[in-house]
Amino acid sequence: MKTRNIDRIAVLTSGGDAPGMNAAIRGVVRTAAFHNKHVYGIYGGYEGMIKGSIKRIETNDVGNIIHRGGTMLKTARSKDFYTPEGRQRAYESLQAHDIDACIVIGGNGTYTGADVFSKEFDFPMMGIPGTIDNDIFGSDFTIGFDTALNTAVDAVDKIRDTADSHSRVFFIEVMGRHSGYIALHAGIGSGATGILIPEADKTIEELVAQIKKGHKRGKLFSLVVIAEGNKNGGATEIAKAVNELYAEIETKVSIIGHLQRGGAPSCHDRVLASRLGAAAVRALLEGTYNKAVGIINNQVVYTEFEKAISEAKKPKQSLIQMAEILSM
Ligand code: F6P
Repeated sequence: MKTRNIDRIAVLTSGGDAPGMNAAIRGVVRTAAFHNKHVYGIYGGYEGMIKGSIKRIETNDVGNIIHRGGTMLKTARSKDFYTPEGRQRAYESLQAHDIDACIVIGGNGTYTGADVFSKEFDFPMMGIPGTIDNDIFGSDFTIGFDTALNTAVDAVDKIRDTADSHSRVFFIEVMGRHSGYIALHAGIGSGATGILIPEADKTIEELVAQIKKGHKRGKLFSLVVIAEGNKNGGATEIAKAVNELYAEIETKVSIIGHLQRGGAPSCHDRVLASRLGAAAVRALLEGTYNKAVGIINNQVVYTEFEKAISEAKKPKQSLIQMAEILSM
């Protein structure tokens, strides 16, 4: 793609929202303003692009949002953007506002849309990883993961109190349809007896053995943290299966759910999002297009959309093993 004169940059958020998305939008708008460029907000993700829900955002519009969860631009999962007709309409909307480039904040589906669109219309796009799941290749952390994780750990800590008082075994389900990052880190951080994630195979028998081992050494309660995308089922199914093998224990299920997607972003997420927003704008102005921006080992990096989409990002095996050892 040839180097362009980029004056008007659009920004959108797409897919599941993540705390810190607002900070990223702010980073985009203020960095662009610093370089005398104009930013346009696309409201409602790719669906908004198709419908032409596009409005200028200025420096003042992003004041007082750095600490807010959700996304001021709203978000959606667009089916129409999967169709060539939908994308054609989206392109026409951008043309109608003389947009020169677009920054998309979201997860894998968001990047896939950006990749297809940029190739189809030879249009400069940049991606920023925003998802609580932390499963995007090309960045050590994604926007929202740290906040969601802290929400999950806070919830597990509270459950620990009541589990301890009643000597119960709790099965706590956290988010992550395809990813075990939240479950693994929340499990380690809250001292769980068992952690079940899609990236590691653990049988019900092994889990029961772990719980029994704790009971043998006098630990009367247990916490098991489960990613919703775990292969043997979510917390409800796992609790039932465990009870079938170990009927003597009293089990309880707690599904934390969308609590994890809301709330004020942690400072880590605010700083990460600010850096990524600024870096995405800088990339466009320097002629870097169609890549996802990320931070690896504290350095800003750019990864081709194709690579970011196709490469799986999984928790390290060594961390999974360590969690097993510590939960004994
Ligand atoms: O944003 C990622 C995620 O929170 C997953 O962990 C979860 O499975 C999914 O989104 C839920 O999506 P929705 O809010 O559309 O049900």
